[in-house]
Amino acid sequence: MLKLLQRAGQALFEPLRAILDRGFGPALNPLNSLGALTIYFFWIVLVSGIWLFIFFKTSVSGAYESVEYLTHEQWYLGGVMRSLHRYASDAAIITLALHMLKEFVYDRHRGNRWFSWVTGVPLLWLTIPLGITGYWLVWDQLAWYVALTSAELLDWLPIFSESMARNFLSSDVLSDRFFTLMAFLHLIGLPLFLVFGIWLHVLRINGPRINPPRALMAGSLVAMTVLSIAYPALSQGEVDMTQVPESLGLDWYYLLVYPLLKAWSPGWVWGLLTGVSLLLCMVPWIPPQKAQAVAEVDLDNCNGCQRCADDCPFSAITMMERSDGKAYESEAVVDPSLCLSCGLCVGSCPTATPFRRHTALSPGIDMPDLSASMLRERLLEVSEKLQGHRRVIVFTCQDNARAIKIRSKLNDNETAAVDIICAAQLPPSFIDFILSRKLADAVVLAGCAGGNCQYRFGVEWTEQRIARERDPRLRKRVDADRIALAWLEPWSNHGDTSAVVAALRESLPQPEAVATLPERDSGRSKPWKIPVTAVAYALFAVLVGWLSVWPRFQLINEGQAMVSVSFSHAGQRIGECRRLTQQELDKLPPNMRKLDDCPRQRLPVRVVFSSDDNMLYEAVLQPSGFWNDGESSVYRRLALPAGKKRLFIGMIDSSRSEGFDYSLEQEIDLMPGQHLVVNFDGTQQKFIFKQE
Ligand code: HEM
Ligand code: SF4
Ligand code: SF4
Repeated sequence: MLKLLQRAGQALFEPLRAILDRGFGPALNPLNSLGALTIYFFWIVLVSGIWLFIFFKTSVSGAYESVEYLTHEQWYLGGVMRSLHRYASDAAIITLALHMLKEFVYDRHRGNRWFSWVTGVPLLWLTIPLGITGYWLVWDQLAWYVALTSAELLDWLPIFSESMARNFLSSDVLSDRFFTLMAFLHLIGLPLFLVFGIWLHVLRINGPRINPPRALMAGSLVAMTVLSIAYPALSQGEVDMTQVPESLGLDWYYLLVYPLLKAWSPGWVWGLLTGVSLLLCMVPWIPPQKAQAVAEVDLDNCNGCQRCADDCPFSAITMMERSDGKAYESEAVVDPSLCLSCGLCVGSCPTATPFRRHTALSPGIDMPDLSASMLRERLLEVSEKLQGHRRVIVFTCQDNARAIKIRSKLNDNETAAVDIICAAQLPPSFIDFILSRKLADAVVLAGCAGGNCQYRFGVEWTEQRIARERDPRLRKRVDADRIALAWLEPWSNHGDTSAVVAALRESLPQPEAVATLPERDSGRSKPWKIPVTAVAYALFAVLVGWLSVWPRFQLINEGQAMVSVSFSHAGQRIGECRRLTQQELDKLPPNMRKLDDCPRQRLPVRVVFSSDDNMLYEAVLQPSGFWNDGESSVYRRLALPAGKKRLFIGMIDSSRSEGFDYSLEQEIDLMPGQHLVVNFDGTQQKFIFKQE
């Protein structure tokens, strides 16, 4: 099932990767920098946010005006900054979603990678509220809807005894304190947690790529700026709480679940969010993965050179004080809970040399399941079967799907495919060994497409080692013309696989020089480079702008009005108070002498609300408080067809079984789009239908 899902996901990613590679080339392919691009968009959000904050007024009356001033009066800078702020936030959600999906479909979330995956989930919970609080601050009609719906969601949680949504029903209740709280959360609280969260997220990764390549940064900024100028972000009308907009331009990136509240109760929405989050947290263990043998250090052969620790992509190796009394300063120690069994450390260990033909090949660090010694035996074995003068040994990565496909077709009299965990597991001395001992005439290292290495640095380290730029380097005496690196680019597998194999074999007698790396650079020189890049940026900008307001969300249907029933009222006490006798009073400590002994608990409050005898809302509301001694809280938002209505609200706060303790019946002509609030005035002890 997992494999099926992953293959389906790869089938979506690979064509996209192939197209983008043609324009950007593997090094700049945005799909190889999704996490870094998300961080970069956060940077744009931060810088533009600082500009907005300088002009923003954190008050009910000032917020909308100050944003309008920036948008229209200062459109050339403030307006662009506002749009950049919104669009970069939206772009971050796209790259974040793709980042998550990519890690999943390429199986980079399981085993010891679970940590990065699981710490990614709270980042979602921080990013989305960060956007939501931002929408709140603009205080336009969308902000009102966001505030009201967010409060309705929060009201469901047993945090507040009073309804929070009530604060957004009429302007006389709303206070500036909400804006101060939102501004604090949006500008300081959530961003601080996000920075901490990202730090934790990449903690186990050696040299995490937190910055995308510069060209990609520049291109993304230009794309977002062009979008901001061409299609500026606008407010959606000033808030008038007596009116309800029929529809709203919703930012689907951040507010995706809000429309669910039209059909679902907040409890179901919370259930969905919690369920999805828990499922996401469990994904690395579904189904449980067989434990892989991790790298093992052999102290007798480790000289403490630190290369393995530098090259390990997952920070699994630490250099510790020497424990065996040898003259070296340090020794490599592998943390099994971090090791991903990629074998890159074997490729970097100078002691992993196959030339020791008559002594055991036991490097300082090795992979128990595919050791350097096993590799040498396998090479000797396959070389004996090779014939002719164009004998080629092709190293293919174990788990690379494309490599697996071509592997079976490679083996013939002249060609032999040998499995390794990752291209970078092969120490360069093995290539020297193959060519100098005439085990083959050429060597091909076939691995993952550039930038998308399963083990992050496999491609990079291999290229650098073969190009003699990184230790352990390929020795100078080795003829580079006999080595080819074949990073299996996605498009190489499109169409006829056998044609790919044939082309690969054809190139083997005269393998390409490493320095030219034709497979990796070919995309850049093609004529479609600029058009593909431009179209990719344009489509990305269109996607960002489009879903940030479209499709519009129908808040109420045409010709409908909205009615909110909202008040708090304490039910009567469950029994009569009893006057204490003097004797009883004397027994009590002086500070606890109350004349009356009243039962603490209160009765539930029963409420009915109807229109022309049609029951719209009926509820029995329990008292709040630990001792059931607080007020009962009533809150319900309803959409009603406009027109003349005979509205009735009745409430029972006693133990009576017939009639109502309080009620109001009134004929009201509801206008389309009108917002009517049904309130209970605690001072005057009567109901009010509040229309203004
Ligand atoms: C604010 C949101 C996020 C940001 C900024 C972010 C950023 C990053 C960065 C910079 C890396 C290192 C990439 C590298 O150097 O190879 C990374 C790795 C990773 N991220 Fe995220 N990430 C975010 C959210 C998520 C989420 C939501 C998930 C999944 C639930 C996730 C899963 C992973 C995994 C599994 C890795 C490790 C990949 C590996 O070991 O090769 N990330 N992330
Ligand atoms: S196999 Fe080696 S390089 Fe790979 S994670 Fe384990 S210790 Fe690090
Ligand atoms: S690369 Fe090899 S020799 Fe160097 S520290 Fe690591 S295990 Fe020891």
